[in-house]
Amino acid sequence: MHIALLFFSGTGNTRWLVETLHPLLISSGNTVALFDLEKEHNFDYHAYDTFIVAHPVYGAHVPRIVIEKVTAMIPGNRSLIVIATFGYVNALGYFAEKKALGRHIYAYYNVKMFNNISTPKMKVGIKTPEKRLLSKTRLKKKIEKIGASILMGKCKIQGIGPQLLVGIKIRKAFHNGLQTHYQTLGVDPERCTLCGLCVRECPTHSIIEENAVFTFHATCTACMRCYNHCPTQAITINGVYADPNVYTRYAGPWK
Ligand SMILES: Cc1cc2nc3c(=O)[nH]c(=O)nc-3n(C[C@H](O)[C@H](O)[C@H](O)COP(=O)(O)O)c2cc1C
Ligand code: SF4
Ligand code: SF4
Repeated sequence: MHIALLFFSGTGNTRWLVETLHPLLISSGNTVALFDLEKEHNFDYHAYDTFIVAHPVYGAHVPRIVIEKVTAMIPGNRSLIVIATFGYVNALGYFAEKKALGRHIYAYYNVKMFNNISTPKMKVGIKTPEKRLLSKTRLKKKIEKIGASILMGKCKIQGIGPQLLVGIKIRKAFHNGLQTHYQTLGVDPERCTLCGLCVRECPTHSIIEENAVFTFHATCTACMRCYNHCPTQAITINGVYADPNVYTRYAGPWK
């Protein structure tokens, strides 16, 4: 097999999954090329016979960056194997994934990882690093199973259940919010040290800083990396400072 393993990871969960899966797939003479979708690549789909796309779930939907990049890089007549990571309930599922990426999904896997978002608007618990470490063995086993299933060419479709009906509601409720997420983001000038990290790290280059004034742009894919990674927690949501003692920032799966 000549595998192209394409991924997007806003805060590290999907990256960790991909880095765990990668060595498992390089066996039996397979070649596996990794493509981080937030970077520019010289990608020629002709070189591959198998396409795996791994991404997080946002509001029971596929992140915009993934839809845009995958659609541009791989023609619609090529089917995909998809691995979706999620924090609490994956109400996205195979059918919505197929529609979002506009093509046949050969196999669909979903992996419960860790929630990465806790804000005044959406206060969901973030697991402590100790609790996350405890999940490492479970996750490694799950990823090993996915790797074996892919290498056997199984058309496995995971995650079909009642949560998919909830997903329709979530997608409707979150759709506009995700598209206009950039409008809610801001920077607290009292806390910002102008370190430039958010500007450098934004996967879609959606943050512009000029003379200490920040603007957030519509290309934002709502990954929450800027909010989670800012060293002084200066990124605001709807103009509100989120106290990190109440709203824990997410620094990645094992940090
Ligand atoms: C904007 C946003 C929306 C999210 N929506 C969902 C969701 O609908 N269901 C869910 O289970 N997790 C949701 N999550 C959690 C992420 O899917 C989960 O933490 C994922 O593993 C993050 O992957 P990453 O670290 O590779 O970006 C959401 C996270 C963000 C930032
Ligand atoms: S990462 Fe935080 S402190 Fe650094 S420039 Fe961005 S908002 Fe300011
Ligand atoms: S502006 Fe923030 S939330 Fe939006 S894509 Fe950039 S880092 Fe992610």
